[in-house]
Amino acid sequence: MAHQWRGVIREYLDRLPFEASDPVVTLGEGGTPLIEAPALAKLLGVGSVHLKFEGMNPTGSFKDRGMTTAVSKAKAKGAQAVIAASTGNTSASAAAYAVKAGMQSVVLVPAGKISWGKLSQAVAHKAQILQVKGNFDDCLRIARDLSENYPVFLVNSVNPDRLQGQKTASFEVVDVLGQAPDLHAMPLGNAGNISAYHLGYKEELAEGRIKAMPRLFGIQAEGSAPFIKGSPVEKPETIATAIRIGNPASWDLAQAAKAETQGGFGAVSDREILWMHRFLSQEAGVFVEPSSATGAAGLYKLSQQGELPKADTVVITVTGHGLKDPDWALKDQSGRKIKPKRVSATAGAVADLLGLERK
Ligand code: F0G
Repeated sequence: MAHQWRGVIREYLDRLPFEASDPVVTLGEGGTPLIEAPALAKLLGVGSVHLKFEGMNPTGSFKDRGMTTAVSKAKAKGAQAVIAASTGNTSASAAAYAVKAGMQSVVLVPAGKISWGKLSQAVAHKAQILQVKGNFDDCLRIARDLSENYPVFLVNSVNPDRLQGQKTASFEVVDVLGQAPDLHAMPLGNAGNISAYHLGYKEELAEGRIKAMPRLFGIQAEGSAPFIKGSPVEKPETIATAIRIGNPASWDLAQAAKAETQGGFGAVSDREILWMHRFLSQEAGVFVEPSSATGAAGLYKLSQQGELPKADTVVITVTGHGLKDPDWALKDQSGRKIKPKRVSATAGAVADLLGLERK
């Protein structure tokens, strides 16, 4: 009998700090598709590109991989409530996994700066949502303080249990490709994800499953690019709200990921992000939220500047689903709202509008 994917803890039990008897809080996360994108390979001038489509996780982003491990560990420790600071996706994920665990969730989000798709998820999963008059960095500072001084359990990626779950994305890439890619790129915000991929690939190398590390590339939005500046950005700004972060928590881990893999950091403008967001929808058939197009946009920019390292196999993680933040798809390149035409309910009227000739 065919069996259903069991979520990352059970699928990778021997490679995670869990025993078979530990509580597992899962919504079946992981096992996301690795989708070949020949149009993007052509655009970048590389052998092949595969998109790791993390929008296919239960709450629509890669956060679920780390949330299953963080909330399971919280459950084992008897936690009653979890707290997370978030630009949206972490809050959606924390809220859903808290429900599954029978816990309360508290989420702190920057006021007015998270997409309504993500906000609706946190509301749907009955999180206590507070809109903080500040940015993500303020939210994280407060969440850390609360978790140290009050009975709430922090499930941001500064909690090492999160990275354990998130590293399974590297395992899945290697399981499918049978090797490491030459280069692996992703958007870079608070820097948990690139740190987790690095951890996962290092374990694959140590186990002899891959022969060499992929070069890891983290791409930021120009208005929110502390890794390019070399120090925190006080007032980060970008339409890519998921990565609107000025003071990344996993700074040192991300620097190590870059240095130890001969990888790189890059930054792209909001315009370049939106261009790639459209390209992925229209040429690869993969609908992502704008922030999630940042990795691909960064590689495109490098290729145009002649600075993209030679690579036969490229993986790009697209981190969240397009339905999270769909407004951008409903605007044309000059920002005008796209409204499908209305038509009378007859085949003739529809054929006329489509310019079809009768057979
Ligand atoms: N892409 C998306 C869609 C995200 O939501 C995030 C982070 C990132 C990329 C960046 O990943 O922080 O590990 O470098 N979102 C967090 C949140 C901050 O609160 O949902 P990172």
